[in-house]
Amino acid sequence: MAQTLTKNHLRWDPALAMSPLRVLTLLLVAVLLVSPYSTATRVFNPLEHSGPASPYFDAPSQSNINTDLPEGCTVDQAAYILRHGARYPEPGSFNGWKGLFAKFQNATYTARGPLSFIPAWTLPVDDEPHQPLFLSSTGAGEAFRLGVELRKRYGLTKGGSNFTVWTAGQQRCIDTAVYFLRGYLSQGNYVSDPSLNRGTVITLVDSSVNTTFADSLTPSASCPAYSEFTPAGSANSDKFRASVRDKVAKRLNGFLEGLMLNASDIGVMQDLCGFGFEVSGDKRFCDIFQEAEWLDYEYAHDLNYYYGAGPGNPISATTGYPWVKAISDLFAVGPGETVENGTLIPPPLIMTFTHDNNIPPIISALGLWNSTTGSSEKEETIYPLPITKRVDDPRRMFRSSYLVSFFGNIALERMKCVIGGPTLEEQREKGVSHQANIFGGSVNNAGMGKSKVFVRVRANNAPIPIPGCVSGPGMTCPLEEFLDYVNRPRKVASGDFVDICGLNGVQGAVSEMKFLTTTGDGTTFAGIV
Ligand SMILES: *[C@@H]1O[C@H](CO)[C@@H](O)[C@H](O)[C@H]1NC(C)=O
Ligand SMILES: *[C@@H]1O[C@H](CO)[C@@H](O)[C@H](O)[C@H]1NC(C)=O
Ligand SMILES: *[C@@H]1O[C@H](CO)[C@@H](O)[C@H](O)[C@H]1NC(C)=O
Ligand SMILES: *[C@@H]1O[C@H](CO)[C@@H](O)[C@H](O)[C@H]1NC(C)=O
Ligand SMILES: *[C@@H]1O[C@H](CO)[C@@H](O)[C@H](O)[C@H]1NC(C)=O
Ligand SMILES: *[C@@H]1O[C@H](CO)[C@@H](O)[C@H](O)[C@H]1NC(C)=O
Repeated sequence: MAQTLTKNHLRWDPALAMSPLRVLTLLLVAVLLVSPYSTATRVFNPLEHSGPASPYFDAPSQSNINTDLPEGCTVDQAAYILRHGARYPEPGSFNGWKGLFAKFQNATYTARGPLSFIPAWTLPVDDEPHQPLFLSSTGAGEAFRLGVELRKRYGLTKGGSNFTVWTAGQQRCIDTAVYFLRGYLSQGNYVSDPSLNRGTVITLVDSSVNTTFADSLTPSASCPAYSEFTPAGSANSDKFRASVRDKVAKRLNGFLEGLMLNASDIGVMQDLCGFGFEVSGDKRFCDIFQEAEWLDYEYAHDLNYYYGAGPGNPISATTGYPWVKAISDLFAVGPGETVENGTLIPPPLIMTFTHDNNIPPIISALGLWNSTTGSSEKEETIYPLPITKRVDDPRRMFRSSYLVSFFGNIALERMKCVIGGPTLEEQREKGVSHQANIFGGSVNNAGMGKSKVFVRVRANNAPIPIPGCVSGPGMTCPLEEFLDYVNRPRKVASGDFVDICGLNGVQGAVSEMKFLTTTGDGTTFAGIV
């Protein structure tokens, strides 16, 4: 994925080759990209600031934590909760696209500069009854590639093993899960004899009041108290957008004679950067806007997710906690085991596929990205995120593009680390001796080290420190401390799902997510691929 990004950086401005100054900039960029410090100096790319319209990209490292697995560590269990891959627009947004197309076609005008392409621009959707809402081929490709990548990254599934994944019930999530499995297992698809296939997709009923409650991948949909707060997300982002878009429309109208863009057109045009790129590789809308205009566009999305589904919604943690608790219970028993009274042992790599709005509650339940360490005067101005002014402070971690991009995800990794063992450097210097017929080797005059278990959290690949629990290698959290953190302070802060959601007395209401460890309870069906 990093390679694709590098290409994007270099291609992004078609005018780059024109001026000598830009040639110099390009050379400088090229040098930075091959230097070991390149991650610290990313070239501005609108596709990495498009919030939920961003294609997947690895988020930059936060808090200076190295993304690589710390030396001496091996992941033995991991869990992911992911948004589906890139899709076509929702029907509502698509109406906006059609309105813009009609506006461009239904007037006589002259467009110059970056807008000169609009008279001949066409909609990137050509099968309206089937495309909107569904996964695009880009999304399918991303899912397949992630499957390939995670198999290599962890090596947790032996050839010939079965592998099960879980998904929310909408078609785009199911399709993401299926393409992921195909990439992960990469063993052909036995259409004529499906019993030979090794992958199972368990599709969960989408939750709503009176169905599966917290035992689903869309628990917030069955929490009435949560829904009372979600409108604050769009209200706050609308307020922010209203304060910035007129200025952008005015600037762009300078390139038009006979046509006037207004504030709503600006939003549609910015959405078409990410979507146009994902559907057909068209980046022309990306080239229209300036850096500050992209950061404002992104910040409006940040406000929407922070107040709608994230830490700014006081019920958010309640709806994210069941997933966090279910995974931490499995981390407590370790791979190959199940929880007390469990009837199913999930694979060591647990993959769960859902929608954008179900990702920020996990951040809330884990107590992340809602406070800053460091100077306390600045703390107030970062969280809760201010509505009237964009926060550019690099300590602001809550960014929609790093969390709910297509394929946005949170991962928890359980890892065994040898502490105090010979370093790679020592192994190279002192030599590793092997004894006949005994697998492995040892280093002379170096301590054996002690194996301990740690937990790491990542969002779109970037490790995130757990507040107050960073004593492990690479700022990981010792397993016992992690379990304590989830079972005590985060449990208290999140509260009981049934109680807080106002579901006491509602038939069948449950506060726990059990589907990972319970065989068919009638709410799921499995498909083999
Ligand atoms: C196109 O322009 C005509 C005449 O100006 C107007 O009546 C019509 O509503 C416009 N259609 C759209 C889709 O904007
Ligand atoms: C994999 O699953 C299939 C279908 O459920 C089953 O028949 C088979 O025994 C399983 N294989 C392994 C290696 O567990
Ligand atoms: C849930 O079921 C109860 C009892 O059948 C019913 O009164 C209520 O309207 C249902 N709620 C929803 C949101 O469907
Ligand atoms: C912008 O113009 C479109 C039609 O061109 C119209 O539908 C929309 O309501 C306008 N928005 C604002 C904020 O004026
Ligand atoms: C996030 O911070 C705000 C402001 O300090 C606080 O009111 C809210 O409860 C926090 N959210 C979570 C999920 O901890
Ligand atoms: C397991 O089942 C037993 C017997 O029904 C029950 O007493 C116990 O509380 C259950 N444990 C959990 C963690 O649900």
